[in-house]
Amino acid sequence: MTASLPPSVPMDNPDDMFEEINPLPRLLMGPGPINADPRVLRAMGSQLLGQFDPQFRKYMKETMALYRRVFETNNTWTFVIDGTARSAIETAMVSLVEPGERVLVASFGRFGQLKTEIARRAGAEVKVIDAEWGTVFSMEQLEAAIREFRPALVATCQGDTSTTMAQPLDGLGEICHRYGALLQVDATATLGGMPLPVDTWQIDCVTGGLQKCLAGPSGCGPITLSDRAAEKIYRRRHIEEGLQAKDYIAGAGRMIASNYFDLAMVMDYWSDLGLNHHTEATSMLYGARECARILVTEGLEKAFARHAIASRAVVAGVEAMGLKVFGDKMHKMPNVTGIYIPDGVNGDRARASMLNDFGIEIGTSFGPLHGRVWRIGAMGYNARKDAVLLTLSALETVLAGEGFKLNRGAGVDAALASYR
Ligand SMILES: Cc1ncc(COP(=O)(O)O)c(C=O)c1O
Repeated sequence: MTASLPPSVPMDNPDDMFEEINPLPRLLMGPGPINADPRVLRAMGSQLLGQFDPQFRKYMKETMALYRRVFETNNTWTFVIDGTARSAIETAMVSLVEPGERVLVASFGRFGQLKTEIARRAGAEVKVIDAEWGTVFSMEQLEAAIREFRPALVATCQGDTSTTMAQPLDGLGEICHRYGALLQVDATATLGGMPLPVDTWQIDCVTGGLQKCLAGPSGCGPITLSDRAAEKIYRRRHIEEGLQAKDYIAGAGRMIASNYFDLAMVMDYWSDLGLNHHTEATSMLYGARECARILVTEGLEKAFARHAIASRAVVAGVEAMGLKVFGDKMHKMPNVTGIYIPDGVNGDRARASMLNDFGIEIGTSFGPLHGRVWRIGAMGYNARKDAVLLTLSALETVLAGEGFKLNRGAGVDAALASYR
């Protein structure tokens, strides 16, 4: 049986398509996207340049240098992939892994499942180890799985937004290298919000996104590659036919299955060879550069502290309301908090009231947590005291309206106290 096509998409009012886009001023306090920093939006509104204009190449090099600071790395091959965060994950997977190679995915939520799927599509022999949602792995568990499976690549998340958990990574790179594996980390949800010293932790490939702690819109995936990873990829270099020089010799490794996500060609494009590949998403590049510039100017330590403080305030606030935080609190991401929906409260109706009455978006959950857990994010531009207090205050009112017994004002008071 073949699947039928998805339902069509009738417009509520066809005349609306001639209206100017004018979104309501929402406060986005879910697991991402969040409100972009206005400076990022301003940068993205700048006039376009040709991608081989010297001024634009200069912006590209500055973007590379800024992201080296963001990733705390000296990796030459640090740049951005045009496409949302998963495009960077897919680029890494399809370029780093040859069909038939072994990939171990350490999964502790939905985004581990995503990496599993992408690795399978890339033709890898995939083994998955699962941590129960709301928990993370110990280094011993990870080492045992690597020792047994002997993968070419270990892939995991730093923070999995679906469960709000953050996997400790210090030491994992060293273990991977001891067993001859590379380590790839998806830091979409945590980059800029918690420490990720890529060189110190010996991670071979890290990918990110702008729409969480980096205070930008989605649409671009920062990536950094160790020399080890870059060399492995470059052995598979095959330049597009129309661009090959007379003396061109193709790489010995198997051709990368995707053209758009061929990291060897993308490296050629970012390098001083400046080989043509895709047409640069110029406005996204401006945005990505501005996200990194803002973070580096604030200082990584200060940004991490700002996220940790916001997280403590959210936790203090919801607990003072009588709500329970989901998962292992010791390993919670600093920027997203899972909260059990209390008995008797209609989770979807409460979220709708947050949005429609207060203009505040909070998140629902996926898979086993759907209908059980809300997720509140305080990250990037929104890891601010006023945003946290407004959200808690609206939540108190909504919960009271749902008939949940709470001490009105206690949540906001506790959050304020935690800020003091
Ligand atoms: C941890 C993690 N990885 C990957 C993604 C996928 O990012 P995108 O939707 O930008 O492709 C997300 C998105 O929420 C995420 O939270």
